[in-house]
Amino acid sequence: MIPVVLSFPDDTKLAEAVAKHLPVRLHTFHWRHFPDGESLIAISADVAAADVVIIASLTDADRKALPLRFLAQTARELGARSVGLIAPYLAYMRQDARFHVGEAVSARAFAQFLDQTVDWLITVDPHLHRIAKLDDIYRMPVSCISAAPELAAWIRGAIVNPLLIGPDGESEQWVANVARLGHMPYQILKKHRRGDRDVDVSAPERDRLRGFTPVLLDDIVSTGRTLIAAASQLCGFGSLPPICVVIHPVFVGDAYERLGQSGVARVVSTDSILHVSNAISLSKPIACALYERLAMT
Ligand code: R5P
Repeated sequence: MIPVVLSFPDDTKLAEAVAKHLPVRLHTFHWRHFPDGESLIAISADVAAADVVIIASLTDADRKALPLRFLAQTARELGARSVGLIAPYLAYMRQDARFHVGEAVSARAFAQFLDQTVDWLITVDPHLHRIAKLDDIYRMPVSCISAAPELAAWIRGAIVNPLLIGPDGESEQWVANVARLGHMPYQILKKHRRGDRDVDVSAPERDRLRGFTPVLLDDIVSTGRTLIAAASQLCGFGSLPPICVVIHPVFVGDAYERLGQSGVARVVSTDSILHVSNAISLSKPIACALYERLAMT
């Protein structure tokens, strides 16, 4: 039975790219809102006895989570053999501790929600910081794809003499990997976050910048304040304008425009989230991970 891929509206382009690598039946589903805002989900594809694969990058997770649950449950009720989720961007991973008394540890709570929703999960470079690995919080089988090979290949092909710069300690896990694969030097800055939009980043090592094109590399850009703070340090040094490379272009509000006006030469991202900055496709590694997962299902 050929697997059925159901993509959320924002993820159709990625789903089409993934489907070019695999024999799957690609469908969207119907999702409309009643006047009171409640969601109505409908599946028109025949999913009886099929392995169903939902593609939903989980930005705006509060809006998508309940429809995702309805979609998975409906697929099961219509006879699906299994229901899995490709969520290139996995939400809530940054709230991985109770930072203040009484706060939710959303990363764990959201993991439980997804565990109760689907049978397996494929994601890309989840923000692992205080949680060491996804298996520590997920019970279902999880495959984590690394975007590093695609990032390294893109940087190598597009940028002359790149020097990778990670804006904070957490970024070292991604930056070091890309640097190793692309045989590029890197350095890691220090970040001090006072609030959601109030961020300081330390100055890079000036001497090591000479002759290089700075490439600011981070896993997530949300408000853009982290990369803007790092870019302003570089601009203050009179280095070449940095190129920003991000895995997950969340970009809330006018963050993309603000980052573009902060002295950076270019902003590029993977297509883990549909965005105008997408330049690096993850469709192939996602298709490979899907092929392997379906073989085990
Ligand atoms: C957190 O440590 C992440 O790696 C990113 O640095 C962070 O999410 C970026 O957020 P913002 O764009 O809001 O500064």
